[in-house]
Amino acid sequence: MGLIANLSADQWLAAASHRRTVYTLKGTSNVPDDRVKEIIEHVLSFAPSSYNTQPVRITLVTGPKHKQLWDRVISASKPVLKGIGDDVWNSMSSRFEGFKGAYGSILFWESGQTIKESEETHPSSAHMLAEFSDHANGMHQILVWTALELEGLGANLQHLNAMPPVEAAIKKFCGVPDDYKLKAHLNYGDDAAEHPTKPEKLSFSETLKVIS
Ligand SMILES: Cc1cc2nc3c(=O)[nH]c(=O)nc-3n(C[C@H](O)[C@H](O)[C@H](O)COP(=O)(O)O)c2cc1C
Repeated sequence: MGLIANLSADQWLAAASHRRTVYTLKGTSNVPDDRVKEIIEHVLSFAPSSYNTQPVRITLVTGPKHKQLWDRVISASKPVLKGIGDDVWNSMSSRFEGFKGAYGSILFWESGQTIKESEETHPSSAHMLAEFSDHANGMHQILVWTALELEGLGANLQHLNAMPPVEAAIKKFCGVPDDYKLKAHLNYGDDAAEHPTKPEKLSFSETLKVIS
């Protein structure tokens, strides 16, 4: 066995290893919005979560709405970053303008209500459910990110939730419920340059131990 639907583990790993952090993105997408939506729906339909509690929520924002979203991010982050220093604001705002120049945003949220309910239905693991939710969120992120890049797009993962007023502005723009918590923000668009190469990794002697 080992061969399901004509796809081997090696083929799947080769596909997964194609995913890179891509910052040079165009404001276009050769992949139609409906196809991106279909990919997200596919991921939501099978990706795992602890006890299948499904705390992950996703918002897709495309085209002019992506630019408007980034305008909100830029104005909400300005007082925070300028408060740290003009140099921080200058460097971050030019990064943010670059993200605004992409085509779309995929926001990954956690449903606080789902976590609360899960803590009641699974009391013995209640203290772990927020952490498990983060694991599940990351699993959804990597699946969507990889699938988009296999469609020929580039994408990068951002964490604007590091600044509470920015998270609040994004929540307002997206019109999500109050109990949602932003976990990650995937910007995507057509690649504006060669797809990046894989960065160096630690040696297996440091990262892997086999006990047999
Ligand atoms: C949990 C996690 C958080 C990350 N956060 C950011 C981020 O906030 N901004 C960013 O530009 N890249 C972020 N990255 C991308 C990493 O910098 C990138 O994955 C790493 O350098 C390896 O490069 P690769 O994605 O091309 O394999 C994040 C990646 C992970 C897995």
